Amino acid sequence: MAKHDVIIIGAGPGGYVAAIRGAQLGFNVGLIEKESTLGGTCVRVGCIPSKALLESSERYVATRDKLAVHGVDVKDVSFDLGTMQARKTKVVSQNTDGVAFLMKKNKVTRYTGTGRLLGDGRVAVDGADGSEELEATHIVLATGSVSVDLRGIEVDSEVIGTSTEALAYEQVPDSLIVIGAGAIGLELGSVWSRLGAKVTVVEYLDRILPGIDLEIAKEALKLLTRQGLSFRLGAKVTGAEVIGKGAKRRARLEIEGTEPLEAQKVLVAVGRRPATAGLEEAGIVLDGRGRVQVDEGFRTNLQGVYAIGDLIPGPMLAHKAEEDGVALMERLANGSGHVDYNLVPSVVYTEPEVAAVGRTEEQLNEAGVKFRKGVFPYMANGRARALAQTDGKVKILADAETDRVLGVHIIGARAGDLIAEAVAAMTFGASSEDIARTVHAHPTLAEIVKEAALAVDGRALHS
Ligand code: NAI
Repeated sequence: MAKHDVIIIGAGPGGYVAAIRGAQLGFNVGLIEKESTLGGTCVRVGCIPSKALLESSERYVATRDKLAVHGVDVKDVSFDLGTMQARKTKVVSQNTDGVAFLMKKNKVTRYTGTGRLLGDGRVAVDGADGSEELEATHIVLATGSVSVDLRGIEVDSEVIGTSTEALAYEQVPDSLIVIGAGAIGLELGSVWSRLGAKVTVVEYLDRILPGIDLEIAKEALKLLTRQGLSFRLGAKVTGAEVIGKGAKRRARLEIEGTEPLEAQKVLVAVGRRPATAGLEEAGIVLDGRGRVQVDEGFRTNLQGVYAIGDLIPGPMLAHKAEEDGVALMERLANGSGHVDYNLVPSVVYTEPEVAAVGRTEEQLNEAGVKFRKGVFPYMANGRARALAQTDGKVKILADAETDRVLGVHIIGARAGDLIAEAVAAMTFGASSEDIARTVHAHPTLAEIVKEAALAVDGRALHS
């Protein structure tokens, strides 16, 4: 029986990064993955392929609609979906191969099959050629999450599917209904809308992007609507049926309190849930929301078994899972390691991007925290004007008494890159004054962050 210091089940961003960090710290690491390639949902059928398609479709729209203003004359712009999809597949394999290379480089032993807890530090790997038993001092559960099912809707993976199918359409559907206005729905809805599908987003709440600051989410709704996406808010999907035959098959959705909707494709994007299959049978305790119950050291109720990433509480994001993995390995090696979930940024890769860290205005009001707010528009920034990307704003919320930055919320070009400064500042416990007094290069979009910080104290320079 092969023996390891650490065995990790699941090779997504949580698991494979934990494997690398564990190896760096001197552990003999085994990594179990049921798929033939490494990288998990994020690399294979999530973050990476969606970014590839978002980039290609945005370049198509930008070339068609946004070059004339620069005096660049292009005619008869068209696209080839086959090439876009092939490029996406290549980007994915570059990344999955990259992860495999990193495992080799760090001398992590790979096992292909489904990991199963056997108790007493033992794990079975159920593979295509039978089962193998392994032994480890520490076992890390990093199996991630799966799409939430919607009651009354049967995913047939052809007409009605999840993000996995919506990343792989071979033809642009004439119409697409997206159920759920979260990150997945808006990103993939944007891709297919840009490529010509009539996209309707049906959302249960009366707003889009739950969890994102409401002022920013309202701006996103306005800009996405302007791009041609339709929204039905406050609309609960209660059932769906597939009608028609062969290539004419369509879905008909029942929506509470309003008339039904029909479309060629449906994308169900109503959230994800921890992938805990088999864990309860193995004696792992879950919390009331189906997540693996862990203490501050990622310890489950079973001795020597830990859990990280989407399986446990905290934002269900790849970079959070990575940080969990690093912190856990450092804890096992040195006794310390911690992730502050309040400082995990989130980015939605629509056009423009939406990015946030810390608390929203709504959360601060609810908690009764007194704060000051600084907002600065992209429109007033020289670089944004030169780029012809003037939609959006940066908003900084700072404690009314101490001026400590409590939240930063951005919608606008490169928001996902700009948020890094805010995360760094908040990680160091910065005040808005600290950001305001930091020299920012001119002319850059980063100056919008500085101006928003100045605006907290009513002294923005360019508005
Ligand atoms: P989500 O939880 O962000 O959004 C799901 C939406 O569906 C919610 O607005 C919810 O109100 C709505 N909904 C639920 N039931 C409904 C019903 N019956 N009818 C209509 N609407 C309904 O989930 P999403 O977008 O599926 O993403 C899953 C996870 O993956 C999230 O944790 C998300 O943060 C993460 N993710 C992050 C990305 C990023 O950071 N760029 C990209 C993709 C996913």
